[in-house]
Amino acid sequence: MSLLSDPARALSEYVSHASVSADPTFVSGVASAREFAVARLKELGFAVEIVETPIHPVVLGTRGDPSWPHLIIYGHYDVQPADPLDLWESPAFETEIRDGRLYGRGAADNKGPQIVHMAALARVFEKYPDLPLRITYLIEGEEEIGSPSFSGFLNENKEKLTGDMVLVSDTGSPSHEQLVVTTGLRGLTALEVKVIGPKQDLHSGVHGGPLLNPLQALAEICASLHDSDGCVSIPGFYDAVQKPEEWEREELMKMPLTESKYAEFLGVEHFHPPKGYSPLESLRFAPTLEFNGMGGGYQGEGSKTVIPSEAFVKITCRLVPNQTAEEITKLVKEAIESKCPPQVRIEVTVTGGGDPYVVVPPGKPGADLESPALLKKAFAAAENRIEEAFGTHPIYLREGGSIPIICDLKRVAGLDSLLIGLFTNEDNLHAPNESFHLGIMKKAIDAFEKFFLDLAER
Ligand code: BES
Ligand code: MN
Repeated sequence: MSLLSDPARALSEYVSHASVSADPTFVSGVASAREFAVARLKELGFAVEIVETPIHPVVLGTRGDPSWPHLIIYGHYDVQPADPLDLWESPAFETEIRDGRLYGRGAADNKGPQIVHMAALARVFEKYPDLPLRITYLIEGEEEIGSPSFSGFLNENKEKLTGDMVLVSDTGSPSHEQLVVTTGLRGLTALEVKVIGPKQDLHSGVHGGPLLNPLQALAEICASLHDSDGCVSIPGFYDAVQKPEEWEREELMKMPLTESKYAEFLGVEHFHPPKGYSPLESLRFAPTLEFNGMGGGYQGEGSKTVIPSEAFVKITCRLVPNQTAEEITKLVKEAIESKCPPQVRIEVTVTGGGDPYVVVPPGKPGADLESPALLKKAFAAAENRIEEAFGTHPIYLREGGSIPIICDLKRVAGLDSLLIGLFTNEDNLHAPNESFHLGIMKKAIDAFEKFFLDLAER
């Protein structure tokens, strides 16, 4: 019997392959997770090719006749680092089921949702081995490090991806009773800023007074990047921002999550959204500039009287439709450089980026009337089958997170994506005690089984 007939067991095995793409010491876990994915695809009858990249290879599976409608399914077999390990209630790579959730790094992001698609296909192919739907599986191993090899891969393999649409389940939903069909993803730009002062760390008594401390200079630069309304104060930052459509605001109103429940979930008393956006709007419709980490000087126990030679900060911006990573990176870099006082030097390095993505669901104002028949069919099938399995209509909303390659697939291969969110806030993505809700898993497999059959209907 196929492993996919027991989806929780399949997920548990997949999670046990510790595929942390960021850390070279996990290279064997990355390889064995990839082999796990390859084995499942072969079980499902796919021909599988492993496409080498400079870091972690891409798994490419194919089935079906070139004359059939062509669906591309995207997923990633890599996961985030599990640190801090001591905050996990059960080991990150030895799964445990508690209260209807399967715990382990990658359970939700992205292994669980991939098992959902595969388990549904296993059921479909058992009944209809010759289902007239061409499917190309694209499972990458570098998503969690910003997909550095993806554009190269795409340029070399675009002829294999001349499909009708992409299916992705790597986004979120509010609860196990309410799914979201994701209509957009934020883009991203990542920078690292270094402020350099004296040529070495100095005694703060012997040399303190005449110097501008690099940590202070950096803190002042950072503090100047937002105004008191919570807005990014870099000229031009908001110029290209597309305001949400009326229907998007209406969809947001349907979300079961209230501001106060969200505040409680986060453990904060007050929000600080940029002026003009409510907290829940800002998450999906506004761009951000965030400090992800900063440092310099003494970080150990107790105090040390030192003036650090250097200070650094890591910054990322989330971008919304119509902004581009290239433009915003340039604006942010120039703004930071222009604020550097003469007493210190500054180095700004761009460490990554990707453009935002948006797809207007067929039938909503502004939808692309030229989009492939399969995409229109897929949106309708998703709505019907989700409603059947979950008892509620999906909500159509843009997402706060990023999957930069989804925009590349649109730009390079002309492909739009149907993104169906299967994880929730409680799943603790990228954090300790990540889990996947087994109730969502079960209902989603039911929904996707029928969804795939719908796509093959003439
Ligand atoms: N699955 C997430 C993206 C995501 C998270 C979408 C939450 C919707 C809601 C993906 O694996 C991810 O973490 N992406 C990174 C991109 C980065 C590493 C380039 C992100 O959003 O930070
Ligand atoms: Mn992730």
